[in-house]
Amino acid sequence: MRAVVTGAAGFIGSHLCQRLLSMGWEVVGVDCFRDYYSPEIKRKNLRTCLSHPSFSLIGEDLVASNFSFLKGGDYVFHLAAQPGVRKSWGKEFNYYLQDNILATQRLLEASLEKGISFFVFASSSSVYGNSPNFPLREDSRPLPFSPYGVTKLAAENLLRLYYENFSLPSVSLRFFTVFGPRQRPDMAFHRALKAILTGEEFTVYGDGSQIRDFTHVEDIVDGVIGAVEGARAGEVYNLGSGREVSLRDALSIMERVTGRPLKLKFVEAAKGDVRKTLADITRARKDFGYRPRKTLEEGIEQEWYWIKSLYSG
Ligand code: UGA
Repeated sequence: MRAVVTGAAGFIGSHLCQRLLSMGWEVVGVDCFRDYYSPEIKRKNLRTCLSHPSFSLIGEDLVASNFSFLKGGDYVFHLAAQPGVRKSWGKEFNYYLQDNILATQRLLEASLEKGISFFVFASSSSVYGNSPNFPLREDSRPLPFSPYGVTKLAAENLLRLYYENFSLPSVSLRFFTVFGPRQRPDMAFHRALKAILTGEEFTVYGDGSQIRDFTHVEDIVDGVIGAVEGARAGEVYNLGSGREVSLRDALSIMERVTGRPLKLKFVEAAKGDVRKTLADITRARKDFGYRPRKTLEEGIEQEWYWIKSLYSG
C-alpha cells in the first residue's frame, strides 16, 4: 500500500512514517520544513526514514504544490499544519489560515481528482474549547477558544463537505496534547525536560492547575493505523489517553523520573489556553479497538532520553 504523509518531518508525522514503513508500506513524505522550529531538528526526526528504501521525501509547500506526488489509490495522512495554540493570535494568523485551511482544501481537491483510497486528517482537542462537560465527546458542540482551534475545526468541516458532496472517504482524528520523543520545542514537556537538563527555569502559564489529557505519540500512531482499518468514513474520533493530569503533577513526575529538580517561574495564563481537556475514547475503541497503553512515566522517561541526546551532543 502507498501512503502520502504530509508533515512527515514533524513530531507525529515522522513516527507515523516509521510505523508505516515497518508495516511494509511505501511512504511518500511531504514537508516544507517551515521554520516554526528548527528545520535541523526536523531533519533529525527523519533520519531513520531516509535510509529506508521504501521512503521518499518531497520538499513542497501544499499551498503551492501541483500534487504530482499523489496517485490514485493512495492513503493520505494529512498531518502538516501550523501548530501551536498560543501563537495563533495577531499577524501570525495568516500562517494558520494558509497552512491549516487553504492547504487542506487544496489537498482535498487533489485527492478527489486523483481518486485516493482514504484521507486521514490530524485534528485537535482544541476544537472543543472550554467545554463545561467532561469527558469530551465527539458529539458535543465544538467551540474553539483559540484561532488555531478555529482553523482545525474549519479543516474538519472541509473534510465533511468533501465526503458529503463528493463521497471522498475521510476521517478526522482529534489528537490530545501529544508527548514523547521528538515532541515540538514549544510544547510543555519538551521545554520542562530541557529546563531540567540545563538548570534553567521553566515558565508556567497560570498556576499550573490546568489539566490535560497527555497522550503518548505511539498510542496516537496506533490510533491512526486503527482508523485506516476500522473507522467509519465521514466520522470524527477522539484520540486521547482518557487520563487527566494537571501540569503541576506532570512536572513532579518529570522531577521523579529524571531524579533532578525543576525550577519554576509563574506568569499569567496564556490567551487561548483552555482549563482542561479529557477525551472520551469510547467511539474509537468501539469502531477500531483503540486502546492507549503507555503510562505517563514511561513516556516521560523516553522523552527525557531523547532530550538528552538532542541537547547534549
Ligand atoms: C497541544 C499542541 O501544542 C497543539 O498543537 C495541539 O493541537 C493540542 O495540544 C491539542 O491537544 O490538540 P497544549 O495542550 O497547549 O497544545 O500543549 P502544551 O504546549 O504541551 O501545553 C500544555 C500546558 O502547559 C498548557 O496549559 C500550556 O499553557 C502549559 N505550558 C506550555 C506552560 O505552562 N509553559 C510552557 O512553556 C508551555
